[in-house]
Amino acid sequence: MTSQTIAQTIKACASVLDNHDGSLTFNEPSLEAKILVGHCVKKTFSQLIVDANEYIHADIQLNIKRCIERRLAGEPIAYIIGHQPFWTLDLDVSEHTLIPRSDTETLIETVMNLPIADDASVVDLGTGTGAIALSLSSEKPNWQVLGIDFKQEIIELARRNALKNGLKTTFLQSDWYHALNGLRFDLIVSNPPYVESDSPYLNQGDLRFEPRSALTSGDHGLADIKTIITQGKMHLKKGAYMVLEHGATQAMPITKIFLEQGYSQISTIADINGLDRVTLAVFDKPL
Ligand SMILES: C[S@@+](CC[C@H](N)C(=O)[O-])C[C@H]1O[C@@H](n2cnc3c(N)ncnc32)[C@H](O)[C@@H]1O
Repeated sequence: MTSQTIAQTIKACASVLDNHDGSLTFNEPSLEAKILVGHCVKKTFSQLIVDANEYIHADIQLNIKRCIERRLAGEPIAYIIGHQPFWTLDLDVSEHTLIPRSDTETLIETVMNLPIADDASVVDLGTGTGAIALSLSSEKPNWQVLGIDFKQEIIELARRNALKNGLKTTFLQSDWYHALNGLRFDLIVSNPPYVESDSPYLNQGDLRFEPRSALTSGDHGLADIKTIITQGKMHLKKGAYMVLEHGATQAMPITKIFLEQGYSQISTIADINGLDRVTLAVFDKPL
């Protein structure tokens, strides 16, 4: 490989991403090239500009080539570089769980607009990287936020992210509410698996690389949501909120489940693309 500067390498990588013949489309090849090159040379975007004429060592050129090959094979950029921005945080990611999506910021905004006490207790079910739990902790430092997920590797990832972002959020391994015996919360939030098991989307884009355990649920994608709503009644204080992220076509069936289970004040919030994304409800009569 001939010696190239940072600027030349970014240009060459962007051109490879732009002109390849595969089925993938890269919306912003030059942005992706900057992210991948920046990751390999360990420089921020502004350092890439300042050091544009610096030559890149052959070993690092090889690393960049490998990263581009992985990207051309469709692997999500967050898995290649190992982290992803979410809300105001930077979160490590792993193959054990979902890469946080900007869609989920609708849930954070929804929660921020609720009249919830300053000392609230909150649980984030299926916390993954800790995206929701950590964002809420960062916004509301006095909330007692607990994130749960069912795999120990995921809990360790979320704890690392808490440390990385200087947050005191607690994480616990649990199959939904199993380890939460007797605990009641002012707020239950969740972005659970909600994709139908046979959805064609599972064979497209980033979803091909993410674990099915983070994505799919039986009963048309509603099985886990049903469990969370039904069993949630044993874990909500009087007048407490449940706020759930879901697929764009699931607001109606979820509203129905909330109603059947005795919840009230049910409403649905759309994301920035105008798609129904979050449904929330209040539980007024704890069991
Ligand atoms: C759609 S991902 C959401 C991850 C993260 N909250 C986010 O918004 O980026 C769903 C998460 O639910 C977790 N999960 C799936 N089944 C679970 C169960 N039975 N108990 C607890 N967590 C579960 C998965 O491991 C995954 O991390």
